[in-house]
Amino acid sequence: MSATLALRALVLGAAAGGGLPQWNCGCGNCHDARSGALAPQTQSSLAVTVDGKSWALLNASPDLRQQIADNACLHPRALRASPIASVLVTNGDIDHIAGLLILREKQAFRLFATRPIMDIIEANSVFKVLDRQCVERIVVELDEPFALLDGLTATLFAVPGKVALFLEEGEPDLALEGEQTVGVEMLCEGRRAYYIPGCARISPALAGRIRAADLLFFDGTVYRDAEMAETGVGTKTGRRMGHMSIDGEEGSLAALAELGIARVVYTHINNTNPVWRDGPERRHVEARGFQIASDGAEYEA
Ligand code: MLT
Ligand code: MN
Ligand code: ZN
Repeated sequence: MSATLALRALVLGAAAGGGLPQWNCGCGNCHDARSGALAPQTQSSLAVTVDGKSWALLNASPDLRQQIADNACLHPRALRASPIASVLVTNGDIDHIAGLLILREKQAFRLFATRPIMDIIEANSVFKVLDRQCVERIVVELDEPFALLDGLTATLFAVPGKVALFLEEGEPDLALEGEQTVGVEMLCEGRRAYYIPGCARISPALAGRIRAADLLFFDGTVYRDAEMAETGVGTKTGRRMGHMSIDGEEGSLAALAELGIARVVYTHINNTNPVWRDGPERRHVEARGFQIASDGAEYEA
């Protein structure tokens, strides 16, 4: 008889692109993360397992080398071996693909992405360091379940979100909903979990899909849409970056509160976000029963 499987998710990186602190940022949060007043957080990635042995990475962050070093479950268990069996990429932004370069060194694993996201990887010859003899590139169709790990069925689905930042030409289509930005549904032993680190809007279809889930990791990039301007670090709104805010009438907190999800965890959190610190914004989120991810936090579905 096989051992019981249970879906476990380990936050490798809770921060959005840039991390906390971000190399060139002197905002209050980044300052405090340097001084030790706030815990530093690495860039966006989640590791999942169902047997505690074999792991899948959901996104490959530029901080992946440190994330593997910091988490013993991802250390090699033999002379040349890794428990990382699969890597899945949910969009083409730097914070989610640059870590693929860390995974060179002739290690076998399976790389999953939709066609347009895989095209970004194929179009950049630097990713040839992932030797095709070892790394199988698997193009995934939306809404077609596949085995992400033995015992873990995953399905990718369209999430409202623009093209990757470095592919923007002029004003991007902010209403885009297709294969450029996807969410991940994971099913194991009747439990249902979701990973959605980037989302511009909770459409009726998306709400219907995630309703009554056991566990949801959701885009917590900004608390307020105008937060970057308010903190003085830039002019872009959350909306322009392809990320809906947590707060506000059109924010995710209000929308998700209606959906009867057992556990909601905000992740992919920008360094400007006030929820990093103990304050009214974090308490507002926690008062709803929602959580703020942090590096190393582990959740069971
Ligand atoms: C984002 O989520 O908006 C991106 O990570 C932006 C970036 O690539 O810097
Ligand atoms: Mn990002
Ligand atoms: Zn900052």
